[in-house]
Amino acid sequence: MLFTRITRLALNTRSTRQLSSRASTVLSALDIPTTPTELPGVYDGQWKGSGDVLESICPTTGEVLARVKSASPEELSVALEKAREAYKEFRLIPAPRRGELVRQLREALAAKRDELGALVSLEMGKIKTEGVGEVQEFVDICDYAVGLSRMMNGRVVSSERPGHTILEVPNPLGIVAVLSAFNFPVAVYGWNLSISMAAGNATIWKPSPSTPLCSIAVTKIVASVLEKNGLPGAIAGLVTGGKDIGEALVEDRDVEMVSFTGSEAVGRKVGKVVQSRFGKTLLELGGNNASIIMPDADLSLAVPAVFFGSVGTAGQRCTSTRRLYLHRSIAPEFLSRLQGLYGTIRAGDPLATDTLLGPLHTRGALGIYSSAIDQLKAADAEILTGGSRYDEAPLDQGNFVRPTIAIPKTLDPTHEMWATERFAPVLYAAEFDELEQAIEWNNAVPQGLSSSLWTRDLRNVGKWIGPAGSDAGIVNVNVGTSGAEIGAAFGGNKSTGWGRESGGDAWKQYVRWSACTLNFSDEAPLAQGVSFDA
Ligand code: UN1
Repeated sequence: MLFTRITRLALNTRSTRQLSSRASTVLSALDIPTTPTELPGVYDGQWKGSGDVLESICPTTGEVLARVKSASPEELSVALEKAREAYKEFRLIPAPRRGELVRQLREALAAKRDELGALVSLEMGKIKTEGVGEVQEFVDICDYAVGLSRMMNGRVVSSERPGHTILEVPNPLGIVAVLSAFNFPVAVYGWNLSISMAAGNATIWKPSPSTPLCSIAVTKIVASVLEKNGLPGAIAGLVTGGKDIGEALVEDRDVEMVSFTGSEAVGRKVGKVVQSRFGKTLLELGGNNASIIMPDADLSLAVPAVFFGSVGTAGQRCTSTRRLYLHRSIAPEFLSRLQGLYGTIRAGDPLATDTLLGPLHTRGALGIYSSAIDQLKAADAEILTGGSRYDEAPLDQGNFVRPTIAIPKTLDPTHEMWATERFAPVLYAAEFDELEQAIEWNNAVPQGLSSSLWTRDLRNVGKWIGPAGSDAGIVNVNVGTSGAEIGAAFGGNKSTGWGRESGGDAWKQYVRWSACTLNFSDEAPLAQGVSFDA
C-alpha cells in the first residue's frame, strides 16, 4: 500500500510544501528543484517570471508539485522582442544546419525519455507507457524534421515568357506561438517546435497553465542545445501563464502564426482574433471520434482497439473513441467482450507499471464527467458499465472516474449527447443496419478529427475512404481512432479547425511562400500577351 502512504504524506504536508518521495524522485531526475521555492516559468534566453503564480497539482494525489512564477505582460513583451531578434539571426542559418540542431535536440530528448515520460504521468496523469510514448512522439518528429530540413523545397515553374523562369520559394515565417493543451503537454509542442525550428522560425510556447513543469523540463533541454551551439535561447521561448498571457499572444501583431490546441469554444475566438489581424492560424480543436464495426470485422482486434481508444489516457485524447456504431448482428457479442475488458481496468497511480487507468487531469474534469452521466441518466440511457467516481481510498484523493459505456435512447446524431465532445472516458454506443447509415452518423457531428472502420471487405473500405465516406481528417481502417503516427499530417476538419500539424505537408504552413519571376532575357514582355507600348 505504498500508494496509500504516499497519498497521506502528500495531504499532511501540503501546508509545509514538502514533496512526497514519489514526486521528488521524478522531479529530481530532471533537475527540477524540489524545495519550496517558486520556479521561474519564463525563458527568453534567461529564466525569470514575475507574473501570477501557477500551481502544478498532481491529479493522482492532489499534492501541489510546484509553484511556478508565470510571465507578466512586460515579460511577454520582452520575450517577443527577443524572439524577433533571435528570428533575424536564425533565419540566415541554412536549413540543413538548423536540422543539425534539431538532431541534437532529438538526442537530448531521447536521453531523458523515461524521465520526461514519468513527469508527464506525474503532472498530467496519463499512465507511464503513454507518458513515455508521448516523449517518443517528440523524438520521432525531430527525426522527421531533421530529414525535412534538407527537403523543404520550393519548385521551379515554367514561365510562358521566353528567358523567364518562376520559382516558388519558402522562407522562414517569423514568430510562431504555440498554445498547447494539458492532455499532450510534450508531444504537441514537439510537433510544432521541431518543424518550426527546421523552417527557421522563432517559436514561443504558452503551455496549459496546469502543466507548467512539463514545459519547464522540455524548455531546459531545448535551451541547453541552443546555448551549446551559441544561439539565442529566444529561438525557443517559454511563457507560462493563464488566459491573459494567451490572449496577449494571440492578439499580438508581431506573431505571424498561432498554433492552438484546445476546445472548440476557445479555438473559435482564437481563429477570429488572429484572422482579424491577418495572421495565420493552425487550429487543432475538438474530436468526437467514432468507430464503426462491420459484421465481418475481426473482433479479436476491434474490441481491444475500442477499449484503448475509449479508456486510454482516461478518455482525454483529442482522438479518443467517443462514439461506437455496431452492426446489429455483432452488437451483443461486441458489447459483452468490451464490457469484459472494462471489468479488467486497473485504476491507480499512473507511475505504477500495471496501472491501466490514471485520473482525469483536473477537478474540473470531474464535473464534465458527472454532467455527462447525469444527462445520460436523465435521458433514460442504458449504462452498461461505469457511471461513477472511484470514491474509496486512495483513489478518492485523485480525480478517478469509472470508464463508462452507455446506450442512449436517441439515435439522433445531432442530439447534444452525440454531438458534444466530452473530455472523459464515456463511450456512447448504438446499433446500425447499413454502412451508409453509420457513415451518415459518423459525419453528422460538428467535429471531424478521427474515425475508424473495422471490416475485411474491400468494398466497405472503398466507401469509407472515398468521397461519400468519412469526412474526418483521420480515416482509419482496422486501426483505432487514437494513436496516430507522426509521419502523416495530423488534424481534423469542420469544427476541429482544419489545421494540420506534425508530418505530411504540415511544414508548408510554417514558412512564407513567394512566387519569384526571374527574367534572364534582354526583353521585358508582359504576361498574357498584354502590350502597353508608350
Ligand atoms: C491530442 O490528443 O491532442 O493520435 C493528440 C494520437 C496522438 C496525438 C493526440 N498521437 O492519439
